[in-house]
Amino acid sequence: MSTSLAWDERYAGGGFQFGEAPNLFLLSQAHRLKPGIRALAVGDGEGRNGVWLAEQGLEATSVDWSDVGLGKARALAARRGVALQTVTADLTRWDWPVAGFDVIAWIFVHLPPEDRTLACDGAMRALAPGGLLLLEAFTPAQEGRRSGGPKDTSLLWSRALVERHFAGLEVLELLEGTMALDEGPRHQGLAEVVRAVLRRP
Ligand SMILES: C[S@@+](CC[C@H](N)C(=O)[O-])C[C@H]1O[C@@H](n2cnc3c(N)ncnc32)[C@H](O)[C@@H]1O
Repeated sequence: MSTSLAWDERYAGGGFQFGEAPNLFLLSQAHRLKPGIRALAVGDGEGRNGVWLAEQGLEATSVDWSDVGLGKARALAARRGVALQTVTADLTRWDWPVAGFDVIAWIFVHLPPEDRTLACDGAMRALAPGGLLLLEAFTPAQEGRRSGGPKDTSLLWSRALVERHFAGLEVLELLEGTMALDEGPRHQGLAEVVRAVLRRP
C-alpha cells in the first residue's frame, strides 16, 4: 500500500525521482495557459510541474501528502526564483477549495479506487467554470513494462475512468496510447498512458 511515509522515503534521497523538467504532456498544453490564472498541481511530489506552472506566470499551488517531496518543491521554486504555494495533505481528506483553480494538473497520480473517487470529486469541486483539467496517467496496458507506474493494477487509469470520474466536463482531448517517457530515473522508456484535456463548461 502506498503511504505518505513511503513517498517521504523515496524523495529523501538526492536527485529528483521524476526529473526537474515539467511533464512533456503538461508542457504541450502551454498554449492554453495564461499568466495570472490559478493552477493546482495535484500529487506534485518534488514540484517539477508546479514550479513550471509558476514559471509560466500562473499563481501555482502544489498539493501532496509527502512533505519531504514538497520541501524539495519549495527549494526548486526558490532556486528558479518563482513563488509556489505548497499544501501537505492527503487528497482524499483535503478540503479542496471550491472553484479555487482555473487549471488542475493531474500528472501520474494513481490512487486506489475508493480514494480515486474521493480525490476526483474534490478536483471536480475545485475546478472553476471554464477551468481546465490536464491529466496524464498509466493504463492497464502498462503492466509488464518497466518504464514506471504502480504495481497494483487497480490504481491504473483508462479513458473510461477519465470519462466516469470527470463526467460533466467537456472533452477537448482524450487519448490512450504509447508514449516515450524520459522523466528522471523513475519514468524511462516506452509507456502506456491516457492523456486528457477537459474543460468545465
Ligand atoms: C508517481 S508520483 C508523481 C509526482 C508528480 N505528479 C510528478 O509527475 O512528478 C505520485 C505522487 O502522488 C502523491 N500521492 C499519492 N497518493 C496521495 C494521496 N492520497 N494524497 C496526496 N498525495 C498523494 C505521492 O506522494 C507522489 O508524490
